[in-house]
Amino acid sequence: MAGMLDGKTALITGGGRGIGRATALLFAREGARVAVADMNLDGAKETVAMINTAGGQAMSIGCDVTKPDQVAAMIQAAVSAFGRLDCAFNNAGIAGYQVDALGKKTADWPEAAFDRMIDVNLKGVWLCMRGELEQMVKQGKGAIVNTASIAGLAGLPTSSIYVAAKHGVVGLTKTAAIEYAENGVRVNSVCPGYIETDMTRDVMARRGKELMALTPFRRMGRAEEIAEMVCWLASDRSSYVSGANYNVDGGFMAG
Ligand SMILES: NC(=O)c1ccc[n+]([C@@H]2O[C@H](COP(=O)([O-])OP(=O)(O)OC[C@H]3O[C@@H](n4cnc5c(N)ncnc54)[C@H](O)[C@@H]3O)[C@@H](O)[C@H]2O)c1
Repeated sequence: MAGMLDGKTALITGGGRGIGRATALLFAREGARVAVADMNLDGAKETVAMINTAGGQAMSIGCDVTKPDQVAAMIQAAVSAFGRLDCAFNNAGIAGYQVDALGKKTADWPEAAFDRMIDVNLKGVWLCMRGELEQMVKQGKGAIVNTASIAGLAGLPTSSIYVAAKHGVVGLTKTAAIEYAENGVRVNSVCPGYIETDMTRDVMARRGKELMALTPFRRMGRAEEIAEMVCWLASDRSSYVSGANYNVDGGFMAG
């Protein structure tokens, strides 16, 4: 059976573990050649090894998405290797505990934590989109998927700057979708609920019961369940979908 992404080339940031890795594996299984980028190059290499062992085609790229020169080089490397860029998944991101904001309410976030959160989770997405859009406009076609979150759609106590950054990602997604429709580029985002990855291990240990009580499915999602939505949004099967933000959250946002 034909793969959903047969003949396509893709770039995935934050592909060294978690949702990015699961998506890279699925993209490759569905026929895409995948550039796996991560600040943690070892993680990206591991993902690539998993893809290659399974018979897929992938390459690793070390890239910190907050660094404009590294982002430009990442996109250049993917385009040089593959000849074009059909799909991009802007997924690299960090959580509050990674910027010393664990459990802090809005007024208590350190300024440095604000700056770092916005730098990675919002500016990083924009820097990637900037380069990807330039390439996709040249091609006259492309599909971008950004990782937002349920935090891009609702307030979540003690996550305020994460929430602000993810609302920003939703805003970028909607605006770019309108602007680049005439160029054949679709831009969408996926909004995961609580997903079992390294990112959520701490919060689940502390507040798992409370958060699962807010999730109608009463369980966390798997990274592979996010990858399915991203794959569809990146594929031609979603050809009339742009500017949309899809919840994959076990019903959380319905509450
Ligand atoms: N896990 C969840 O419950 C959940 C829910 C909603 C949204 N998200 C979002 O999904 C995305 C992936 O999360 P995850 O759960 O897979 O997390 P994760 O921590 O398992 O993986 C994130 C990856 O991004 C990379 N990364 C971090 N900062 C980077 C930077 N500056 N440049 C390049 N790479 C960088 C890390 O090295 C890591 O490999 C994030 O944007 C996160 O905000 C996660």
